[in-house]
Amino acid sequence: MKLNKKIQNEIKSNNGFITIKNFIRTSMYDEKKGYYKNKRAIGKKGDFITSSEISQLFGEIIGLYFIDYWSNYIKDEFNLIELGPGNGTFIRDALNISLNFENYFSSINLNLIEVNKELIKIQKKNLNIFKKKSLKMTWQQNLKKINKKKLIVFANEFFDCFPISQFYKFKNEYFEKIIKYDEKNKKFYFDDIKLNKNLKLFNKIESLYSSYNLKDKSIIEIEYDAEKYLESISEIIKKNGGLFVIIDYGNYSSSGFSTIQSVSKHKKVDFLNNVGKQDISHMLDFNYFYMKLKSLNLNVYGPFTQRNFLTSIGINELKNKICKNVNTKKKLEIQKDLDRILDENKMGELFKVLIISSQKLENYEKVNELY
Ligand SMILES: C[S@@+](CC[C@H](N)C(=O)[O-])C[C@H]1O[C@@H](n2cnc3c(N)ncnc32)[C@H](O)[C@@H]1O
Repeated sequence: MKLNKKIQNEIKSNNGFITIKNFIRTSMYDEKKGYYKNKRAIGKKGDFITSSEISQLFGEIIGLYFIDYWSNYIKDEFNLIELGPGNGTFIRDALNISLNFENYFSSINLNLIEVNKELIKIQKKNLNIFKKKSLKMTWQQNLKKINKKKLIVFANEFFDCFPISQFYKFKNEYFEKIIKYDEKNKKFYFDDIKLNKNLKLFNKIESLYSSYNLKDKSIIEIEYDAEKYLESISEIIKKNGGLFVIIDYGNYSSSGFSTIQSVSKHKKVDFLNNVGKQDISHMLDFNYFYMKLKSLNLNVYGPFTQRNFLTSIGINELKNKICKNVNTKKKLEIQKDLDRILDENKMGELFKVLIISSQKLENYEKVNELY
């Protein structure tokens, strides 16, 4: 059955509407036809591009950052975990630069958490070279089978595709935004339903609204599935010990506007159309993530902008070093790609970084907000 029809049926059996969360869940994660189950979405020929795909320096400098953390806090066999590795480009670059650090490299148990069968094939192909170097690699759909070793977890543009719900307040009443189907014009459209004051969720929305000091009709986005994911990773990090780096596009706190966007072949499109065939994402509310992780008793640092984070860990110095050995054309290419991921008006600012650790990290303790 086509996804569009499947959602129409869900709407019929649910009093004529579907929540935004369930619409996104089915569009993105339906077992058979969901976007993230099948599509080769990333790259020039796909729908969007990520920092990992733009500049090799991204994976390399973060790879060096992991080595630094490992040398200070792990120094033993450990789990290196990437959530949603896409084409495997980030981890390939991070591993490549690690080859010179034998003790570190031989301590890695690589766990790739991925739900997309097509992408797993690409990841296996891209990482094949490391098999020959006896790297232990496993692919899993979730974190259920992670062993008890210490870990370093990395997630770039992972949480932005999780389903979210939207709510707003109007004249002291709260509403959830929902989606209905217009049979005559054959299209989905937005509507809203009043929130029941007895719901547990009601208090949460109310308190977020007042803590963010939002005006009537401002949109609050709730990231349930991401929250559950954070809870399970946090449990593992607290038990085993380790580091968790989240990079994603998002705001310091709620913007009050809908941040959902859909892209197809690098162009913005209406997210209610072409169900399952185009990417749907949203901007993370980093304050919400920060507070959630803090409440789970972890040490949380940031959010830093991608530009400030990458610069602070030495991406320009690494670029200079690499540029010493290449021709002028290549040098310009490297600089152009680096500029793109550090751009103050785009990726460098829009993307934010949170560092989460089971133990206090002295350098961040001194300056929790680096800049
Ligand atoms: C936007 S892409 C980011 C790719 C990659 N991190 C990069 O930097 O290029 C999202 C990735 O997460 C995967 N993914 C999405 N939801 C997932 C989930 N719930 N569990 C595991 N993987 C997921 C997708 O298949 C894809 O590989």
